[in-house]
Amino acid sequence: MAKHDFKFLVVSSQNAVSKEAVEILCRQIKKKPNLVLGLATGTTMKPFYKELIKHCKRCKLDFSKVKTFNLDEYSGLSEGDKHSLRHFMENNFFKHVNISKKNIYFLHGDRRNYRKECSDYEKRIKSFGGIDIQVLGIGVNGHIGFNEPGSSFKSRTRRVKLSSKTRKSNSEDFPSLSSVPKYALTVGIGTIMDSRKILLLAVGDKKSWAVKKALSKKISTKVPASILRRHKDIEFIIDSRVASDIKLLM
Ligand code: GLP
Repeated sequence: MAKHDFKFLVVSSQNAVSKEAVEILCRQIKKKPNLVLGLATGTTMKPFYKELIKHCKRCKLDFSKVKTFNLDEYSGLSEGDKHSLRHFMENNFFKHVNISKKNIYFLHGDRRNYRKECSDYEKRIKSFGGIDIQVLGIGVNGHIGFNEPGSSFKSRTRRVKLSSKTRKSNSEDFPSLSSVPKYALTVGIGTIMDSRKILLLAVGDKKSWAVKKALSKKISTKVPASILRRHKDIEFIIDSRVASDIKLLM
């Protein structure tokens, strides 16, 4: 596998992380109005979407031709479920911009035939020529999407078991830990790596271990995000709290 350089940007705050990412994304949408955009959920993404919405209004950025594919969805939850990631996206982003409903693609966590659901999603991404930009967060254990430690770097969209660490960390969005689904559908690491450009956003001390491992010399399936360093066009955008504990190993 070829070795690639990657861009690494440390900024002062969570707000600054969102601003940087939004600027990069908006430049790309202006260049290619029918961009295929990979999106993520999570607390890191909330201020990013807020900033993106502001920017859309301020600069009259047109989302009408942009297609979006979200990374993942909890198994068993319908898109109308208020704990679903689809619901998160609707509230935090989709309903605030002029994206066309038909251009929003999402994994359906409640489809019985989840294998078909996953392979159809892969085919759909390919039919649009692949993801142009994938926006990513990172889990406390280094997961990307819902690709938990141990996931193959070649993995494609599939159903996965969530680790107890991830369920605990995501339980804030649910009434109790036991109500957090045990499984999820996620695009694979191979699918993510096929994106033409990746922006990884990380904020807060909680992410410092995962980012440190992702940037360390050892690329291992134990830390799924570590493979990202081999991507030909990736930018890590992190705040100073994430960076404080990182001795750069490059
Ligand atoms: C979830 C999502 C990931 C996200 C991660 C981090 O598990 N599946 O895509 O990157 O959480 O979320 P947060 O930003 O809330 O820490």
